[in-house]
Amino acid sequence: MAAPQSHPPMPSEFTPAPPLRSPSLLIVDDDVGFVHAAAEIARLQGYEITVAGELAQAVNRVKQRDFDMALVDLDLPDGCGLSLLRDVDMLRTDAVVVTGSPSVATAVDSFRNSVVDYLVKPIAPDRLRELFEDCATRRRAEPPAPARAWHDMVGASDAFVATRRMIEKVAPSDVSVLVHGESGCGKELIARAIHAASGRTGPFVAVNCGAVSGDLLASQLFGHEKGSFTGAVSRHGGFLEQAAHGTLFLDEISEMAPALQTHLLRVLDFGCYRRLGGHVDLPVEVRIVSATNRDPLQAVASGRLREDLYYRLCGFAIPVAPLRERGDDARLLADAFLADLNARGNTQFAFTPESRTLIRDAPWPGNVRELRNAVQRAYILAEDGQVRMPAPQPMPQRAVGESSDTITFAVGTTFEEMERRILRKTLQHFGNNRRRAAAALGITARTIRNRLARERDCAANEDDDS
Ligand SMILES: Nc1ncnc2c1ncn2[C@@H]1O[C@H](COP(=O)(O)OP(=O)(O)OP(=O)(O)O)[C@@H](O)[C@H]1O
Ligand SMILES: [Mg+2]
Repeated sequence: MAAPQSHPPMPSEFTPAPPLRSPSLLIVDDDVGFVHAAAEIARLQGYEITVAGELAQAVNRVKQRDFDMALVDLDLPDGCGLSLLRDVDMLRTDAVVVTGSPSVATAVDSFRNSVVDYLVKPIAPDRLRELFEDCATRRRAEPPAPARAWHDMVGASDAFVATRRMIEKVAPSDVSVLVHGESGCGKELIARAIHAASGRTGPFVAVNCGAVSGDLLASQLFGHEKGSFTGAVSRHGGFLEQAAHGTLFLDEISEMAPALQTHLLRVLDFGCYRRLGGHVDLPVEVRIVSATNRDPLQAVASGRLREDLYYRLCGFAIPVAPLRERGDDARLLADAFLADLNARGNTQFAFTPESRTLIRDAPWPGNVRELRNAVQRAYILAEDGQVRMPAPQPMPQRAVGESSDTITFAVGTTFEEMERRILRKTLQHFGNNRRRAAAALGITARTIRNRLARERDCAANEDDDS
C-alpha cells in the first residue's frame, strides 16, 4: 500500500475525534415491503440502516458490530429470528421482534430473551416512529462510550497509516471505491469511515450482495412498483433510493448475480435506475463503495465479476493489508478491545505477559475479527483479573495449485478433513449463505448447521483440554 507523496506528515498515534454518531438500526426481515417502510421511517430519524434478509446474514452482521436497535422477524427463510438474539448484546441493542404470525410461545420466548417489544404486523408507522425515537433519545442520554479511535479504527502501522491517508484523500470526492482484502481485516469499517469522512448528507446503507437471491436483491436495491410481483401491494423505493446523497455499500460484490451486475452497470453509467415493474428512469445521486475478499482481478478473470463493472466500481482501490503484516497493530487492537470490555464490564482486567507475546506473534488468519473474538473469549474466561489468550489457530494451508474456487487434497487426507474443507470453501464461495451452499452440496442447511456446531464443540473441547 504505497502512501501518496503530497500528504502532510501524519502523527503516529491518532487523537480520538469522535464524529457525531447516528443511531444504528439492523432490520432482519425478508419481507421487502416492511423493510422498505421501516427503513424509510428510520432514515428520516437519522438512523444508519443495515438490512439482512436471512438469519445467517444477520448473525454475521451482529458478530461484526453492535447496533442500537434490531428489528427481528421470526419467520426467516433459513430459520427463526429468535435464535439471533443469542448473538445480540442485549445491553447495547434494543431488540424488537416483528412478526406476521404471533404465538404465545414465541412471545414468551422473546421476552425471556429480553426483547424490548413484540410487535404484530401490520405495524402502524407511528408505532415504529415512536420506537426509533425512544431508542435514539435513550442512547443520547447514556454516558459517552470510552474514547473512540479515528472512526472506530485502531492502528499505527505503516500499512494502517497509508490506508488512513487513502481514506482521507478519497472520501470527499464522489469516486467509486473498491475495498479488498482478506476476511475480517476491516473492509466494512473502512467503508463506514469513507462515508463518515465524506461530508455526504445522505445515509450509509449497507447491502450484502452474496447473502440473498438475485431477485430479492434486485427488489431490495432498485425498489418495486405496486403489483410488480405477488406481494408487492404498494410501491417501495429501494436501497439506492434510501442511500441518495449518501453511500451505498455493496459488500461481497463479486457474489452478485450476473444479471444484476448488468443492471448496476447501468446505474453507474447513467446515474439512473428503474424500479422493478417500473417504466421510468429515476435519477439518483449516490456514492458507491464496494468490498470483496477475493482478488478483484482474479474475480474478473474467472468471469465472476463483469470486467466493465469492475472498472466502474474501482475508481479507486483500497487494498487492506492482513493483520499479520501490520506490525504492532495486533497489540494496539487487543488493548483497545480489552479496554472496551473493561469499560462495559466495569473491570480492570489485564493481559498476562505471555498473552501479549502471543498476540504479537500469532498469524491471525481471521484477522481483526478473529483477534476481537479471541480477546472477548479470553476476557470471559479470565480469572483473578488475568486475561490469558488461547493458543493461536494454525494458518489454513492452501494446497499447491489451489485457487479461491478449487480444492486440492494431498493423498492421505482424512475424509473428515476433506469434508471440513469442502464445507468451508463452499460456504465461503456462497458468501456464507448456508442455503445456497447446501443446495450446491446436495445436503440440507440443517446438516451444514450441525456440522458447524460439531466443529465448534470440538474446538471448545480442545480448548478445555489444553
Ligand atoms: N482497524 C480496526 N480497528 C478496530 N476494529 C477493527 C479494525 N478493523 C476491523 N475491526 C473490527 O473487526 C471486525 C471485522 O471488521 P470488518 O467487518 O470491517 O471486516 P471485513 O473485512 O468487512 O470482514 P469480511 O470480509 O468477513 O466481511 C469488526 O468487528 C470491526 O469493527
Ligand atoms: Mg465485511
